[in-house]
Amino acid sequence: MPRLRFWLLTAALTISGCGGPYPQSTLHPRSDFGRAVDHLFTDIFWWAAGVFVVVEALLVIVLIRFRHREGRPAPKPTHGHTVLEIAWTLAPAVILVFVAVPTVRTIFATAGDAPADALRVEVTGHQWWWEYKYPDLGITTANEMHVPVGRPVQVAITSADVIHSFWAPALGGKRDAIPGHVNRIAFRADAVGDYSGQCAEFCGASHANMRLRVLVDADSVFQAWVKTEQGGPAAPATGSLAARGKEVFLHSPCLACHTIQGVSPGVIGPNLTHVGSRGTIAGAIFPNDSAHLASWIADAPSLKPGSLMTRMKPPLTDPDIAALVAYLQSLK
Ligand code: CUA
Repeated sequence: MPRLRFWLLTAALTISGCGGPYPQSTLHPRSDFGRAVDHLFTDIFWWAAGVFVVVEALLVIVLIRFRHREGRPAPKPTHGHTVLEIAWTLAPAVILVFVAVPTVRTIFATAGDAPADALRVEVTGHQWWWEYKYPDLGITTANEMHVPVGRPVQVAITSADVIHSFWAPALGGKRDAIPGHVNRIAFRADAVGDYSGQCAEFCGASHANMRLRVLVDADSVFQAWVKTEQGGPAAPATGSLAARGKEVFLHSPCLACHTIQGVSPGVIGPNLTHVGSRGTIAGAIFPNDSAHLASWIADAPSLKPGSLMTRMKPPLTDPDIAALVAYLQSLK
């Protein structure tokens, strides 16, 4: 019975691994970059599979044919076989050419810069969240990067503290985010969607909580998003609760770390000018809803170990937190 359970569990895990929608898979590429790497992987996989089959077949034949048999003399070893030696030198060399040429070609194809009219995005890794700046659009946002479908994007990646690695598997990558250095990646997304990604370089206590999303939008949706994000100074707090939340914000340490355009100048934490329009918070690990915002404000380190956003001293009262949540949610 335990054995049956073991096999059922194994089968269930295997089958569940095959299901879509492949949240973080390089094997289902959705950009020109992703496809180039995927083609290369498939090519090399089949070469490796061919080598594996030939080598294992020879091994099995030799093991059976020359195995020890009672009463028979040991098989005679062969010393020096020119044809064989030339063959096993040439064959791998030829195979390596078939591996190396597409590899080098793909490296050059994916290392080039995007065309001059590409959308430029500057990505900065922070412990433990991502900052995105669109220098040509005057936008600064966090964790959720928006790009239009079908248009080349030039991403410039760096870090504000330690080494991180920017990786949205379906779109291509990954690229290290190194302080004082800029790495680039260029891609053109070819399907609208919400692509998850992840910091891919160990960067401290909450490395695993440093996720990201790339939202590939239809052109009209992207233009609408740009309009919202460019909206200049934050929307005035509407409703008495949000207005009180703004007062709480202005009298708390929040403003020392967060920018809300026209309200506060902090630059240590994510820019909150339009935080209400984002789907997630805290390095894309929690949905951006009242409950999560409230517990995040009350005690961020318990939700994200090592978080630079500490517990406030003295702590905010529940009504103050509720007002703050209403204010942040009004910042569309
Ligand atoms: Cu940032 Cu791992």
